[in-house]
Amino acid sequence: MNATITATARYLPDRVLTNFDLEKMVDTSDEWIRTRTGINERRLVAEGEATSDMCASVVNQLLEKSGKKPEDIDLIIVATITPDMLVVATAAIVQDKVGATNAWGFDLTAACSGFLYGLETGAKLVSSGQYKNVIVIGADAMSSIIDYTDRNTCVIFGDGAGGALLEPTESDSGILDSILYADGSGRDSLKVPAGGSLHPASKETVENRMHYVYQDGKTVFKFAVKNMADVSEKILKKNGFEGKDLSLFIPHQANKRIIDAAAKRCNLSEDQVLINIEKYGNTTGGTIPIGLDEAVENKRIKNGDLVLLSAFGGGYTWGSVLLRWNDSP
Ligand code: UT7
Repeated sequence: MNATITATARYLPDRVLTNFDLEKMVDTSDEWIRTRTGINERRLVAEGEATSDMCASVVNQLLEKSGKKPEDIDLIIVATITPDMLVVATAAIVQDKVGATNAWGFDLTAACSGFLYGLETGAKLVSSGQYKNVIVIGADAMSSIIDYTDRNTCVIFGDGAGGALLEPTESDSGILDSILYADGSGRDSLKVPAGGSLHPASKETVENRMHYVYQDGKTVFKFAVKNMADVSEKILKKNGFEGKDLSLFIPHQANKRIIDAAAKRCNLSEDQVLINIEKYGNTTGGTIPIGLDEAVENKRIKNGDLVLLSAFGGGYTWGSVLLRWNDSP
């Protein structure tokens, strides 16, 4: 039995932070941000709005689109690096907010690859036959961990969430394959150093700004270009496909130059690649499910289409998921 995506949804907060707004906050320019990253603007959560609020909106939309009730949900997986709090799991808060009284759930930490890690986990639990309605969400309120005096990071990230409902299918479509990796030797290139057991929160950690994202952009960039292209090429080859067989490539939206490099390696034309980084920046766990939902809504994905999802993120973590879209499982 395969698992297939039967509904998608996204949530973007209303508040918009443009490149021109950032020009007033740090030493940067709209021109630098656009040409180096492809980003024009990003969304930010409202005061008091947390990751679980974005997730709850996603779940409620998924229920509405699929005609299911909250009590039909078996499992909620939330891929996030910005949980509402360290303890408890955001998934449990979401379970309560949407009234999913028969569900269990957990959070998963894999940064920008989180949604793909979640999709693979959820798909395997569905194909085991034990769970029928599994919701996988990628969601991040990056503004909660971004230093808006650090131009190296504040221009890149934004807030947002997306998700998918996974159900079993007897057909041979749905999630076809996945290749996922982790390499923790890259942990110092992209991290929030404090607030965990290694450096618990203290006056010093706050004074040294250790609760914010630190990124060695150049090192991450090189790793991302190579590994996202490698894994995308590898999963196509492993399954007997070439770039021309793909209807749509939905890559993690971290930098348009990284996306262009991966697309070039897989011999993809512009119309085969989903790019929405200009509107939302890098929403970490959110980018791929947000892109997927936009693609479904805009009819860029149709029944029978071959779709490739690829991501790269802090950890390092990276990987690809290949799926055959199925409108009527
Ligand atoms: O999703 C998680 C994974 N993360 C990523 O994939 C991010 C990967 N990295 C990147 O996307 C890019 O490395 C960045 C967008 C972060 C930076 O772009 P870059 O082309 O690698 O720039 P750079 O760090 O090499 O900096 C080039 C110059 C430097 O000035 P000098 O030393 O040449 O005088 C920086 O100080 O640009 C300067 N700079 C900026 N200038 C204006 C760095 N950030 C900014 C800025 N505005 N925001």
